Amino acid sequence: MSKNICFIDGLEGILKYREIDVNELVDLPYDAISYLLIQGELPGEQELAEYSARLRGERKIDGRVVDVIRMCNFDIDAMEALRTIVSFMSQFDPDLNDNSPEGNMRKAVRLIARIPTIVATYYRMANGKEPITPDPALSHGANFLYMIRGSKPDALEAEILEKDFILSAEHELNASTFSSRITASTLSDLYSAIVSGLCTLKGPLHGGARTEVMTMLEEVACPENAEEFVLGKIERREKIMGFGHRVYKTYDPRGKIFKQLAKELAETKGDMHWYETAEAIENVAIRELVEKKGKPIYPNVDFYSGVIYKYMEIPPQLATSIFAIGRVSGWIAHCFDQYERKKIIRPRAFMLDEC
Ligand code: CMC
Repeated sequence: MSKNICFIDGLEGILKYREIDVNELVDLPYDAISYLLIQGELPGEQELAEYSARLRGERKIDGRVVDVIRMCNFDIDAMEALRTIVSFMSQFDPDLNDNSPEGNMRKAVRLIARIPTIVATYYRMANGKEPITPDPALSHGANFLYMIRGSKPDALEAEILEKDFILSAEHELNASTFSSRITASTLSDLYSAIVSGLCTLKGPLHGGARTEVMTMLEEVACPENAEEFVLGKIERREKIMGFGHRVYKTYDPRGKIFKQLAKELAETKGDMHWYETAEAIENVAIRELVEKKGKPIYPNVDFYSGVIYKYMEIPPQLATSIFAIGRVSGWIAHCFDQYERKKIIRPRAFMLDEC
């Protein structure tokens, strides 16, 4: 792997996948970004067509996996089901113990293609509906919306979800990617490494923040309540979800793109309510935390993506698992890099003090 999988400049707010700025990547199909992360280069036309065809051909899940989803407790967050189902699914993968690059690539394609189907199947069953068969004619984003709704999504929503998957796809050594790498560093199989990533992503300080943002928007309810809500949080020394970042000390570049997309969606729907509520929270938080206290706490990737999900009527219980649909390509890119190194990651306990 010659090029860095990811580059972040936390002071300037720059994010690159394989040396290309995300702003240049966000208009491409998710499949192209997945290929870029895993193979190291953007695909040519023919390569993209072949990779997309492979992904689209692997979207269906085994009937035994569907049976286990049917047994899930549908009152809990979809992430609980997703980590169990991905682990269960490994038993039926003919390449489970083939850790060759070719075997790992076949598993990678199945994981990327099937995680959206698992999430959508869980969601349909949770709502007392039968699962929808994936449509190979649709893009990754459009197919996911189709599988949860049972009707073809409009072009703007499909396009925005595709961008959501792209912006969620990779972020260097974040907690879940580190977990996946640690598992891969023991030369354990790819499913185990992805399950590690899923378990870590679900925490509210990481991918779980997106769910919390959606709950917070419900609680704040309207722009007029933002002032009291944010001041109360700060007074009680509680975190405002969807704000702050360990690496970015300026506006998260993904947050900027999400904000623009949320605005576009709100305007198209002729309903500015959730956008204006979120913007009111942002304005008070920036005034109080950045301008008055000098803390670099801006909206992160989870803030305006939560607003977008509100407009798409995606329930909070699905928010983190949708993050996982995008992130799985990044986890896989890191696992492949780790497999090539053939070296176990084994930090010492004193290093915890530096985290
Ligand atoms: N709201 C209010 N104050 C905050 C926030 C926030 N969201 N984030 C940090 N602070 C304050 C914090 O209280 C502390 O203040 P003080 O120095 O007075 O005690 C200071 O900023 C440093 O905070 P920290 O928790 O030590 O910072 P960290 O680098 O350890 O944590 C973080 C980074 C993302 C976990 C944290 O900002 C946070 O908990 N944010 C809310 C949860 C969230 O949105 N998570 C998603 C992160 S982005 C997606 C991802 O990578 O998963």
